[in-house]
Amino acid sequence: MSTTVDTTCYLNGQFLPLSAARISPLDRGFLFADGAYEVIPVYSRYPFRCEEHLRRLQDSLDGIRLANPLSIAQWQAVIAQIIEAAPFADQSLYLQVTRGADTKRDQPFPAVPPTVFAFTAALTRPSDEMRRSGIAAITLPDIRWGRCDLKTVALLPNILARQQAVDAGCTESILIREGFLTEGSASNIFIVRKGIILAPPKDHHMLPGTTYDLVLELAARHGAAHEVRPVTEAELRDADEVWMTSSTKEVLAVTTLDGQPVGHGADAGRPGPVGRQMLAWYVDFREQQMRHGRG
Ligand code: PDD
Repeated sequence: MSTTVDTTCYLNGQFLPLSAARISPLDRGFLFADGAYEVIPVYSRYPFRCEEHLRRLQDSLDGIRLANPLSIAQWQAVIAQIIEAAPFADQSLYLQVTRGADTKRDQPFPAVPPTVFAFTAALTRPSDEMRRSGIAAITLPDIRWGRCDLKTVALLPNILARQQAVDAGCTESILIREGFLTEGSASNIFIVRKGIILAPPKDHHMLPGTTYDLVLELAARHGAAHEVRPVTEAELRDADEVWMTSSTKEVLAVTTLDGQPVGHGADAGRPGPVGRQMLAWYVDFREQQMRHGRG
């Protein structure tokens, strides 16, 4: 997300310029990373699958035992106003709820109102060069906790993994837990083997991505062979194709893994045919559906 303009944000019931928003240093989001968030892609001012994102926010809040301060209708009203106020049509909308600001730093839940924050930024999609060549990734052990299905703001292990990728001149890190692929530091990961798209099943070790869902829907709709099942580290390393998916990266080929080209034969180290087809379906869906508030 990049913010080059002072967009209107929402903070605890008020709409105000992002540069004017203030929270307490005793906010538990700041002190303990005690909160949950969402990122919703917005195309031509239509938030994509807003209700699904709000449902995932509800699941995250339920998972950390934090009452949702807004109803679906209230969230939708906040989202609509922020989207409308922004000077750009394609956006990356961010929502966050924390357990609020107490008068002291103490772990048990305080009896204070939550902090509710939302802002938007221009959506930055992958560059043409990233699309043409794919990106490089490294693998790392997944050292995160046992509830990676909750979208909490406690992202330090993700951040450290991502920075390790950046330090190695790469874009993403792909996480391995006990010999199985889980996900990327900020994305879900698919592989292709012998023409079959393989996706790790949703469980507590990965975020249930909205893009992950859409990719599997597109595979089903277009009759592309796919299986949802655990993917081993060995299968990842020997894959014909590896892709990362997220609301902002859409479907992006990983063409180098730990310094080795991904794939075999003529397509090794280049975006493969199954991924190129999936991206074409995705782009078509984005332009025909998402951009018109459908899908
Ligand atoms: N992250 N897994 C992780 C750990 C993520 O952080 C994300 C997205 C995803 C993909 O989810 P979706 O398809 O719903 O975007 C998977 C967002 C973009 C972020 O934190 O900025």
